[in-house]
Amino acid sequence: MPVAKQAEIVPAEGKLGVLLVGLGAVSTTFIAGVEAIKKGFAQPIGSLTQMGTIRLGKRTDNRVPLIKDFVPLAQLKDLVFGAWDIFPDSAYDAALNAGVLEKELLGQLKEPLRKIKPMKAVFDQTYVKRLSGTNVKTGKNKFELAQQLIDEIAEWKRKNKCSRVVMIWAASTEIFLKPHAVHKTLDSFEQAMRDNHKAIAPSMLYAYAALKSGIPFANGAPNLTVDIPALMSLADKNKLAICGKDFKTGQTLMKTIIAPGLKSRMLGLHGWYSTNILGNRDGEVLDDPDSFKTKEESKLSVLEYILQPEVYPTLYKDFSHVVRINYYPPRGDNKEGWDNIDIFGWLGYPMQIKIDFLCRDSILAAPIVLDLALFLDLAQRAGMKGVQEWLSFYFKSPQTAPGLYPEHDIFIQLMKLKNTLRHLRGEDLITHLGLEYYD
Ligand SMILES: NC(=O)c1ccc[n+]([C@@H]2O[C@H](COP(=O)([O-])OP(=O)(O)OC[C@H]3O[C@@H](n4cnc5c(N)ncnc54)[C@H](O)[C@@H]3O)[C@@H](O)[C@H]2O)c1
Repeated sequence: MPVAKQAEIVPAEGKLGVLLVGLGAVSTTFIAGVEAIKKGFAQPIGSLTQMGTIRLGKRTDNRVPLIKDFVPLAQLKDLVFGAWDIFPDSAYDAALNAGVLEKELLGQLKEPLRKIKPMKAVFDQTYVKRLSGTNVKTGKNKFELAQQLIDEIAEWKRKNKCSRVVMIWAASTEIFLKPHAVHKTLDSFEQAMRDNHKAIAPSMLYAYAALKSGIPFANGAPNLTVDIPALMSLADKNKLAICGKDFKTGQTLMKTIIAPGLKSRMLGLHGWYSTNILGNRDGEVLDDPDSFKTKEESKLSVLEYILQPEVYPTLYKDFSHVVRINYYPPRGDNKEGWDNIDIFGWLGYPMQIKIDFLCRDSILAAPIVLDLALFLDLAQRAGMKGVQEWLSFYFKSPQTAPGLYPEHDIFIQLMKLKNTLRHLRGEDLITHLGLEYYD
């Protein structure tokens, strides 16, 4: 991640290819959204790169440009989309099937969406038990499948005349995998690919193919994927940006907004019970206990890190944290998430907070995909290699350098992101000390 202050940033010239693994609810909502925004039908609500501003200098300087005017990001008109999926449906049919966006809007976007046909996926049902599809590659072993991806990426980039490409995993959550000895080095990883080793999941093959092809990679699901030493060292070696894991939307977004507030006022926590009903394909996949375990691990870690029970035992020791996801088809993508938060205040008196968030999962996730694509491309052009911790803002389970605990507090994450942009442009970092106003 290290980068020089006022780094030389290569201009964002030409087309930026956005390769999406998985053409489901999130990916199609993202693509359709960008097309709708390009046509002037909608605004990029929820996207920091498109709507966010950044304060520069002193509060009295009145310098508050839009982020997209401050750093040289790719423009929406220059984005080109490609995808892999185990189903052969075009982005138009997949979007209709996902049921997130209204048919009327999709009808107006039919032309660009119909053109996006998914390439054959690298898929193995061992890793996503609830799915099976026909649009799947075959190969002698995992190494050969990865080589097929590498060839396909090169061909796609050439055909679409892209000057740069980024890859984002927005495919289903795979089963829970623990780091394994074969993940340690690139040699052991490549050998394990040839041996068809169980510890090598399809998501790792896409990440490997991206990094071998000189493409930065972001992981939107909680799978281990690029968060293993072998692929982290490959990213470093090839000077490529990587980040993950698991887009921060819905209930975890709320947790990382509310928990820092409770902690800042030294309010204690007895317990936090979260439950969801969700009826989309993601919900169906997560109904499998092995895929849910991957998600659960990602969701559970958040409160521990924010509340620091070891530093504040009186307030946070042994709080109970339960997370449930229930697959309930009638709701489709329109998830409902309930939180019951048992807190305590002055003299230990108990209080409760109830949240009923009627959210739309993919509506919250789509702007994250856009921002990640644009920021990963920026990082790449600015020479920022390896884990991009400044993009933690977008993830439930932020990837960090080995041995470093992740920062989950959304306000610290945002400050880190904006200070990284200031640093890149040679501007003073904002500490909020503000003594100069009282001299
Ligand atoms: N929507 C959100 O708010 C949100 C938040 C955090 C994380 N996520 C994660 O993002 C991912 C996508 O979510 P979604 O709602 O779009 O799910 P979805 O089920 O609608 O789409 C996922 C797509 O990936 C495809 N797929 C599965 N394995 C594949 C493989 N190996 N190669 C290519 N395609 C493959 C599936 O066929 C499916 O079409 C999920 O892992 C989900 O857990 C979503």
